[in-house]
Amino acid sequence: MINGRTAILAIESSCDETAAAVMLDGRETASSAISTQIEIHKMYGGVVPEIASRHHLDNVNPVVDQALREAGASMDDIDAIGVTYGPGLVGALLIGLATAKAYALAAGKPLIGVNHIHGHICANFIAHPDLEPPFMALVISGGHTNIVDVTDYRSCRVLGGTRDDAAGEAYDKVARVLGLGYPGGPLIDEIAKKGNPEAVPFKRVWLEKGSYDFSFSGIKTGVLNYINKEKQAGREVNIADVAAGFQEAVLEVVVTKAVEAARERNEKRIVMAGGVAANSRLREMMTAEADKYGIRLYFPPPALCTDNAAMIGCAAYYRYIEGERDGLDLDAVPNLELGE
Ligand code: KG4
Ligand code: ZN
Repeated sequence: MINGRTAILAIESSCDETAAAVMLDGRETASSAISTQIEIHKMYGGVVPEIASRHHLDNVNPVVDQALREAGASMDDIDAIGVTYGPGLVGALLIGLATAKAYALAAGKPLIGVNHIHGHICANFIAHPDLEPPFMALVISGGHTNIVDVTDYRSCRVLGGTRDDAAGEAYDKVARVLGLGYPGGPLIDEIAKKGNPEAVPFKRVWLEKGSYDFSFSGIKTGVLNYINKEKQAGREVNIADVAAGFQEAVLEVVVTKAVEAARERNEKRIVMAGGVAANSRLREMMTAEADKYGIRLYFPPPALCTDNAAMIGCAAYYRYIEGERDGLDLDAVPNLELGE
């Protein structure tokens, strides 16, 4: 306890950020430390799992120390330890998990596993103190694209998801094809502002009528084919136009389906989560579409959209107060689904 409030120490290491945080009563951030590896993986054009694991190993203890120090807390003040156990890169997850277990065992604190995607949704509880479930969520990140019915603080039901690439993955792949660098999402976000989204109309993939699923793997091929065709014809490719056209094709489908799902359920609130939720065009398009139907939108600030441990601590808190505990045999689950 810190000043009479439940204190959770949270650890996140599912991809390329090593993060730790101390959360008070779930929603107040006492500290949130992040060591990012983006600069290292940039050299390879994407996250290299083995390299990610090694850096997590180097960084995890300093990051935990930093989170405790910045919160002015010692392990005695901590009530429980929350940790991401999936989905993510198995080697990366194992580092955070082993560290959390070591702290739990050494300090005699309960261990609480958190689903990373659920953590992304919970980032909104930190950003919006009055937000309470139930609501609909659109989780849109490097690994996931899901429309979710969030029924309470711990459970949710997936209404639809991607059948192949996640939206963020499509951004990253297309950015690589366009020679923009890594991570692609923020780079496409910026350059697309200078392009004409109608100059290159890429195909919108709607799938069957009534389905809330997505498919984004085809659009990378669409972009590649377009570039090759233009090059063969001796025409110069306007990167900003291609980026804008790609972005519009992806986001139009995402925005339409998310708002449709909310309208069908008579849900008046949509909560956005995940790295791609930081995208400026997505914010514009979602706002315009939601306004038509009186739907209120919740976006976390950009720092709470991308991976962090504060959101994991928030999710862990709600499990903790309901008496949920995990054993020291908790294993990493790289393909963990939401709702499992
Ligand atoms: O949520 P996140 O940090 O990690 C996962 O759990 O996957 O999301 C990372 C993803 C990357 O694909 C990155 O390119 C994308 O989020 N992203 C963006 C933006 N900022 C990050 N995509 C589009 N626009 C952005 N501004
Ligand atoms: Zn994430």
